[in-house]
Amino acid sequence: MTKIIAFESSADETSVAIVEDGHTVLSNSVATQINSHQRFGGIVPEVASRHHIEWISRVLDDALDQAQVKPDELDAVAVTYGPGLVGSLLVGLMGAKTFALAHDLPIIPVNHLAGHIAAANFNQPIQYPALALMVSGGHTELVLMPKQNQFQVLGETRDDAAGESFDKVGRLLGLAYPAGKEIDEMAHRGTAQMKFPTAMAHEDNYDFSFSGLKSAVINYVHHAQQKNETINADNLACAFQNAVVDALVGRTQKALANYPVRSFILAGGVAANSQLREALQTMLTEFPETTYIPVPIQYSGDNAAMIGAAGFWNYQDHVFAGLDLNTNPGLDF
Ligand code: KG4
Ligand code: ZN
Repeated sequence: MTKIIAFESSADETSVAIVEDGHTVLSNSVATQINSHQRFGGIVPEVASRHHIEWISRVLDDALDQAQVKPDELDAVAVTYGPGLVGSLLVGLMGAKTFALAHDLPIIPVNHLAGHIAAANFNQPIQYPALALMVSGGHTELVLMPKQNQFQVLGETRDDAAGESFDKVGRLLGLAYPAGKEIDEMAHRGTAQMKFPTAMAHEDNYDFSFSGLKSAVINYVHHAQQKNETINADNLACAFQNAVVDALVGRTQKALANYPVRSFILAGGVAANSQLREALQTMLTEFPETTYIPVPIQYSGDNAAMIGAAGFWNYQDHVFAGLDLNTNPGLDF
C-alpha cells in the first residue's frame, strides 16, 4: 500500500489529502475562499495567496487527523506546481517542501490538469486507451491517453474556457461567482426560447470556442434592455447551456469516432453540470466498447485528493523532484 499526502493551492481552494494507491481517499480536507472573492466577481490573486497562507497548516492537520495517519506511515508528498496563480501555487509548494523535508519524504510534482483527470479513479479504474474531456474554469481540453500518465491534447479552447463562459454569463445575469452551479439549476427550470450558435461545429479539428457564444448572449441581453423587454433569465440560461453542451458533446463524439477508446473520462469543475453528464451518457450509447467514467461530483472541482491520484501515477513512473522544484503557472500537458 502506497500512501501519498497531496497539497493543492493553485486557485481559490486550499486542500490537503491522503490517498492510498491512487484510488482510495483516506482524507480530503478543502478550505474554500469563494466568499472572499465573490464581491469582486472573480479570484483576486493577492487575496487568494493570503488565504492559502492562513489555511494551509489547519488543512494539513485536518487531513492527517481525518485519515488517522502519522507522517511516518506516508510514502511521498505530491504537490501541484502548475498551472495556476503563481502566488497561490507557491504556498502549497512551500507547505509540501517543508513537510517533505521535516519527514524525509520524496516530493512528486503534479500537473493540476492531470489531477482533474486522475480523479476518475475515484469512480472506477481507467482502462486504456482513454479519452478525457477536461472542462474547468481555466481549461477546456480533449486529451487522449494511450497509456496511464501519457497525455496527447487533441483539441482545446481558442478563447474562453467552458467554465469561464458560465461565470461570465452569470455575471451578466447578476449571479454570484462562480455561476456554473446556479446556471445549471436555472436551466432546469427554463425552456429554450432561442438557439445560440454552437461555434466551430463544422470545422475539421477538435478545438472549442466560447467567446462568440458569450457575445451572442450579451447582445441578446443588451438588445432586450434597449427595447425595455424583460428577460426570462431561466430561459436564457437554458439556451446558453444547450449551446455549451452541444459544443462539448459534438467535439467529443467526433473524437470518439476517430479514436476508439476503452474509457471516456469527464473531468474538471464543469463535469458537475447535470445536463452535460446526461448528454454525454446518451451520446456514449453509440460507443458500446467505451465505458463512461465521469469524475464523482465531490471530486470534480479543485481538491487535493485528485493530486494524490495523479501523484501515484508519477510515483509508479519514478517522477520525483528535489527541494528546488519551482512553480510553473502556465504548465500544460
Ligand atoms: O475545476 P474547477 O473547480 O477550477 C478550475 O481549475 O478552474 O472549475 C471551476 C469551474 C467554474 O467556472 C464553475 O462555474 C464551474 O467549474 N462549474 C460548473 C458547475 N459547477 C461548477 N459549470 C457548469 N455547471 C455546473 N454544475
Ligand atoms: Zn481545477
